[in-house]
Amino acid sequence: MKVTVVGTGYVGLVTGACLAQMGNQVLCVDVDVDKVVRLRAGELPIHEPDLPAIVQGGLASGCLCFTTDIAEGVIHGDFLFIAVGTPPDADGSANLRHVLAVAGDIGKYLQRPAIVINKSTVPVGTAQKVRTCIALALQERTADIAFDVIANPEFLKEGAAVADFMKPDRIIIGTDNGAAAEQMRTLYAPFNRNHDRFIVMDPPSAELTKYAANVMLATRISLMNELAGLAERMGADIEQVRRGIGADPRIGHAFIYPGCGYGGSCFPKDVRALEYSARQHDFDAPLLAAVEKVNNRQKRLLEQKVVQALGADLTGKTIAVWGLAFKPNTDDMREAPSRVLMEALWRRGARVQAFDPAAMDEARRLYAEPCALQLCLDPYAACENADALVICTEWQQFRSPDFARMRSLLRQPLIVDGRNIYDLATVRAEGFTYHAIGRP
Ligand code: UDX
Repeated sequence: MKVTVVGTGYVGLVTGACLAQMGNQVLCVDVDVDKVVRLRAGELPIHEPDLPAIVQGGLASGCLCFTTDIAEGVIHGDFLFIAVGTPPDADGSANLRHVLAVAGDIGKYLQRPAIVINKSTVPVGTAQKVRTCIALALQERTADIAFDVIANPEFLKEGAAVADFMKPDRIIIGTDNGAAAEQMRTLYAPFNRNHDRFIVMDPPSAELTKYAANVMLATRISLMNELAGLAERMGADIEQVRRGIGADPRIGHAFIYPGCGYGGSCFPKDVRALEYSARQHDFDAPLLAAVEKVNNRQKRLLEQKVVQALGADLTGKTIAVWGLAFKPNTDDMREAPSRVLMEALWRRGARVQAFDPAAMDEARRLYAEPCALQLCLDPYAACENADALVICTEWQQFRSPDFARMRSLLRQPLIVDGRNIYDLATVRAEGFTYHAIGRP
């Protein structure tokens, strides 16, 4: 099948590459010339396990091509995916200018009937706006070409994006047109084997499903973080509480890990965008506001723990930071708790020595010199002569460190752990003062 994907960010690139892997003829379009040049050479703009091999395989087989020419893209595909960014405006609302610009271009260049599929996370009602935009552009050309617009939100997780796309737990198709739904079923058939994951619904419900999923997950995290704060004050251990409640199948063990707050490109943005939509509908949504408020407070917790241990004035102090990405297996630092921590430490006069297995280039890009951030070659170099170690991301390689070596490198044996990765008894037996989240 002939597929066009507009936008080569996380969602677009994974969609394009995985569809090409199944033998479809995929053309990916992006306005960023440098990015397209690099992608044509098989170089990826993001750190994502398994994706480079799939992109390179697609280039080699000829199934995957890249262009900056939107007209070429629109003419190529029978399925036209919109996967461009929806950056938040200052008020939290999702900005649709890129999505609607692509819709306008589709109307301008469309030559034959096509299915337009919106994969970007967009407010409820956007499928309708996209439809109107395309129709208006067609009208201007006095062209009468049939098209459908489908809301098809993507649920991939960074760091596991390829696996999530290849083996989705659901494929949400928002359309009122049964024939278009059947064409989507054919396109997605290779990812829908063994049992049916296809769920067809009306477009507004499909659009809301995406926000509902992310907001549900973010709420679980904020509730656990609030409970962690209580546990700390009550002499309880939230890790034991977590196991206790996770055993209830109605709650389950996933996504109840307390920590230094959720980050990334989705949860913070989507909670705010849904809050904004609620206001637009004159609907009071106090839970959404609380989820965000708790998360913002949680992101300041590591700074508070450092201050409790070392004092408010950190002039002349050095803090080691392990983990800069918002979660393991990605180099993404968008809304990462590490950034809130480091920026607070700098304001208090401290220097930071940091290590992350993947996000060092991203940190360099975000915090151009001169600044009080020294990026270190390995976790131990970050500890050298530091007054404390703070863990912001639970990368596997931090889980079983050489504690004796860390103790000899740190000025004092102090660990502030934002991800609760160590066993309390073990780390204390190793001679560390250990401050974690929601633990005695
Ligand atoms: C998320 C959704 O999981 C995905 O379905 C959606 O399509 C996009 O948003 P992602 O942003 O890649 O994916 O990250 P995810 O793995 O969900 O983690 C989000 C944040 O929550 C991270 O900062 C993580 O550290 C935090 N988290 C997650 C917790 O603090 N505790 C948990 O129990 C789980």
